[in-house]
Amino acid sequence: MHMPIPKAELHVHIEGTLEPELAFDLARRNGITLPYSEVEELRAAYSFSDLQSFLNLYYELMDVLRTEEDFRDLTLAYLARAASQGVRHAEIFFDPQAHTSRGVPFEVVLEGITSALKTSEDEYGVSTALILCFLRDRPASEAMETLVAARPHLEHLSAVGLDSAEVGHPPSKFTEVFDAAAQLGLRRVAHAGEEGPPEYIREALDLLGAERIDHGIRCLDDPDLVTRLAESRTPLTVCPFSNVRLRAVDTLDVHPLPALMEAGLLVTINSDDPSYFGGHVHDNFLGVQEHLGLSNEDLRSLARNSFTASFLSEERRSALI
Ligand code: HPA
Ligand code: ZN
Repeated sequence: MHMPIPKAELHVHIEGTLEPELAFDLARRNGITLPYSEVEELRAAYSFSDLQSFLNLYYELMDVLRTEEDFRDLTLAYLARAASQGVRHAEIFFDPQAHTSRGVPFEVVLEGITSALKTSEDEYGVSTALILCFLRDRPASEAMETLVAARPHLEHLSAVGLDSAEVGHPPSKFTEVFDAAAQLGLRRVAHAGEEGPPEYIREALDLLGAERIDHGIRCLDDPDLVTRLAESRTPLTVCPFSNVRLRAVDTLDVHPLPALMEAGLLVTINSDDPSYFGGHVHDNFLGVQEHLGLSNEDLRSLARNSFTASFLSEERRSALI
């Protein structure tokens, strides 16, 4: 096989990298009985009708993550896989509220993840950044409590993000906590326009100060917004396999990636939740190449975009491109 093209991954949820095998290992280690008898039965549950149907399983399976070691093992497994997919830089989401809400302390989660990340450049040749996501289907006050819990640990965090069930939870709900994050020197990104309307993308830009839009594919319903995103060079972190598996898009053959690229948008390709959606980031590159007829030059341009859209310093960016 060819060496996968060097790239940055900017949209990957660490909890979404939990492979069924590791879930069973961790369940055993922690004395937890999963409601699935074996890996194959669990894999068979990976059939989704929309974002919420995925989130139900995603949150259920996270219950196996209890200790610092669990979060470290999860993160190390992702980094090894990312390196083999050509990833040279990863900006990784984590969902602290999905853990604190079931009694796992914030520090356990953060220490576990960061203890893996600090070995990443030396062990895997992958530089990393960590993005704390707020769960938009929980109260804004809880997001603020999460930011307060993160405040002693800012050296480990690059940005805040916004994820979980989108429709009915507009970015405007989180204006105050994103303002507070900006005051702490954190960068800002937000999921918007995955299932929600273009208006949510506008709110993420105007009210949250989002520098990147995660997913964002529904901007195509609003030509003025497309123009704005193109002119401002606002990156979209597009996740093709995710869009198909969560039925935001019917099939890969009709994915709007070409339309987004033709509109002059700064598009990147990402895996989102690779263990749930049938592939890691390079698999997504190969998938869109095969199903959308992209040229090798298109793929190189998408890989270049991933570094341009990253939070890397100019120095490391120019070393990688
Ligand atoms: N969208 C919203 N929330 C998420 C996702 C996603 O694709 N993956 C994990 N949490
Ligand atoms: Zn996502």
